Amino acid sequence: MAAAAMLHRLASRSGFIPAKHVLSAACRRHSTATADLIDHMDKKETWDRFYQQAAPDTPPLSPSPSLSPSLPRPLEWFFGFPDVSKLLLATLGAEGPPARVLDLGCGTSDLGPSLLASSSRPVDVACVDFSPVAVALLRNRLTQCPPQPRHPESCLEVLKLDCTTDLLGHFGSGSLDLVLDKATTDALLRSPGRVAAGQALRQCLGVLRPAGALLQFSDEDPDARLPWLERESRAGGGDTAARVSLQELGMLRGVCYYCYIVSPAPSSPEPPKTEAQEP
Ligand SMILES: C[S@@+](CC[C@H](N)C(=O)[O-])C[C@H]1O[C@@H](n2cnc3c(N)ncnc32)[C@H](O)[C@@H]1O
Repeated sequence: MAAAAMLHRLASRSGFIPAKHVLSAACRRHSTATADLIDHMDKKETWDRFYQQAAPDTPPLSPSPSLSPSLPRPLEWFFGFPDVSKLLLATLGAEGPPARVLDLGCGTSDLGPSLLASSSRPVDVACVDFSPVAVALLRNRLTQCPPQPRHPESCLEVLKLDCTTDLLGHFGSGSLDLVLDKATTDALLRSPGRVAAGQALRQCLGVLRPAGALLQFSDEDPDARLPWLERESRAGGGDTAARVSLQELGMLRGVCYYCYIVSPAPSSPEPPKTEAQEP
C-alpha cells in the first residue's frame, strides 16, 4: 500500500485523481504503468499500456473460445454515471428529437452506455477514445453485455478517434448536442504547454450545435479552469468563442468536483447601421 499512497500523493499534486478503487487496483498490480501514466497522460501508448494492464479482469482482445470469459468491468475516473445522472438527464430533457451525444475520451467508462439505458429522450451516443486498447475493451464489454436502450430509437457506437484532431472531420461542424468530458481534459492539460487540451476544446466547440454544450467534469479549481476555458475558447478565432459557466457537484469521497459548462457563442454579426448612425 506504500505504492498506493505515493501514487495518490502524486496524482493529487497533478490535480488528477482517479476514483479510489481504480487507483488502489492499479497500484496493487500496476504501479509502474500508473506512474508512467501520470507523467505521459497525452500519449496514446501510455493509455494503451494502462488499459491493457489495469484491466486484468477483461478477456483478451481476441477472445479465445478456450478461455472462460469473465465480464470486463468499467474503470471510472472520478465517479460513475449515478453521481451525475440527474444533471445529464435534465440537460437532455425528457423528450425531443434524437440528441447526438459524444463521450470524449471514454476509456472503458460506463457513462455512455448508462446514458443510453436511462434517457427517455432518444440519444445517439458516440463513445470516443484514441486508445485502441480502451476501444476494444469497451466494445468487447458491450458485446458481452449489451446495454438496453430506454428509448427504442437510441443507439451507441464506440469509435477510435483522436479528440485533438479528428472530431470535426468525423462528426462535422455544428452537429452534436452534448459533449461529455469526464477527466479527459484534466489528462490533456498535462500535455506540454497544455496544447492538446486547447485543441480538444476547440474541436468540441466546432462540433457542437449553437444550442449545444460541453460538460467538463473535473476536480480542478474554478480559479484555474475558468480563465483557461475563457482564454482557450477564444484562441481559435471568433467562431469558437464560448459562454462558460460552472456548477459545483459537491464532495464525493472527500474531493470537490465541478461541472464546467461551455457553449458555443458564435460572434454576433455586426448590427445593421441605421440612417441616424450613418456618418
Ligand atoms: C482520465 S481518462 C478518463 C476516461 C473516462 N472518461 C472516465 O471517466 O473513466 C482519459 C481518457 O482520455 C483518453 N484520451 C487522452 N487523450 C486523448 C485524445 N487525444 N483523443 C481521444 N482520447 C484521448 C485516454 O485514452 C483515456 O481513456
